[in-house]
Amino acid sequence: MTRYEQIKAELLASPKIWLVTGVAGFIGSNLLEHLLKLNQKVVGLDNFATGHQHNLDEVKSLVTAEQWQGFNFIEGDIRNYQDCGTALANNGEGVDYVLHQAALGSVPRSIADPITTNAANITGFLNMLQAAKEAKVKSFTYAASSSTYGDHPALPKVEENIGNPLSPYAVTKYVNELYAGVFTKTYGFKTIGLRYFNVFGQRQDPNGAYAAVIPKWTADMIKGEDVFINGDGETSRDFCFIENTVQMNILAATASEEAKDEVYNVAVGDRTTLNDLYKAIQSALKECDVNASQNPIYRDFRAGDVRHSQADINKAVEVLGFKPEYDLFRGIKVAVGWYIGTNI
Ligand SMILES: NC(=O)c1ccc[n+]([C@@H]2O[C@H](COP(=O)([O-])OP(=O)(O)OC[C@H]3O[C@@H](n4cnc5c(N)ncnc54)[C@H](O)[C@@H]3O)[C@@H](O)[C@H]2O)c1
Repeated sequence: MTRYEQIKAELLASPKIWLVTGVAGFIGSNLLEHLLKLNQKVVGLDNFATGHQHNLDEVKSLVTAEQWQGFNFIEGDIRNYQDCGTALANNGEGVDYVLHQAALGSVPRSIADPITTNAANITGFLNMLQAAKEAKVKSFTYAASSSTYGDHPALPKVEENIGNPLSPYAVTKYVNELYAGVFTKTYGFKTIGLRYFNVFGQRQDPNGAYAAVIPKWTADMIKGEDVFINGDGETSRDFCFIENTVQMNILAATASEEAKDEVYNVAVGDRTTLNDLYKAIQSALKECDVNASQNPIYRDFRAGDVRHSQADINKAVEVLGFKPEYDLFRGIKVAVGWYIGTNI
């Protein structure tokens, strides 16, 4: 039995109360779905900045009526300290575990508007951290980012070796880690940061100027529209399917005290170029009888992007018992199937 299977059995036997911030977003709504399916109670906080009601509606359709009853949604903003406190109070019931996902993602968005990104990602983060400390929750797990590796050239990326940030977004995610460390030192409030590497999967938004590469390309290929590759296509990433990311959140939230005050890479430990990713999506679409034979159009590199990214996941494997269940190709099939079946 893996640690993940063991924890899931324990949670089913003894349900807990979770707060998922950013619950209407991609990763948040997948966390919600998994937790409700494990009969957990979930408080969700979101201001719909980039999240959608349709994500919550989809989760509702995937769980039982009784499981959905365990969900308490609060429309609110993490930039407002009171909203954080309201979510943690949970009508007097309180919260055991916090999974803090709410933030404004996207490197280009942060370059276009660093002030709004800073407010959500730093002020909002600090509000949640302070409110969670005051509420004495059992654990606080937060979405960190591989962008914290910045210009450090080493591959694969090992947690302790980081470089200089390359974008305002990367600064905000690094500041999260600094605050988290200081909260341990000054208040003894220990947290776990999860450095996500390019997460993808169902409910990741394909629309808007700041859509991530997999949903954007998949949706454009399905519609027969032009698909653009920034740069020469040899830029590479460690693409991580959402199920692996959900697993890491559950492992982190329930980790021992010794495993806390740490950051962990969340990825599969592999590296795929954009050119190969393009082919993988094309072939997954073909398997679903969607003809996407167009060639990509190459254009300039994008500012603030790192050239290569690949994680060393040994720390997560050894300390948290992480065992990624999906490689890129298995994940792409599920994700592509979802985009074909949806109208967004
Ligand atoms: N998706 C990835 O590849 C990736 C990689 C690294 C880090 N992350 C981090 O993971 C987290 C979740 O990302 P995602 O991909 O699900 O993005 P997402 O945009 O789908 O979800 C973020 C959610 O946070 C909400 N939100 C934003 N600002 C808020 C505020 N001020 N108050 C309340 N809610 C607010 C949004 O409405 C949205 O529902 C973010 O912290 C992001 O920085 C994601």
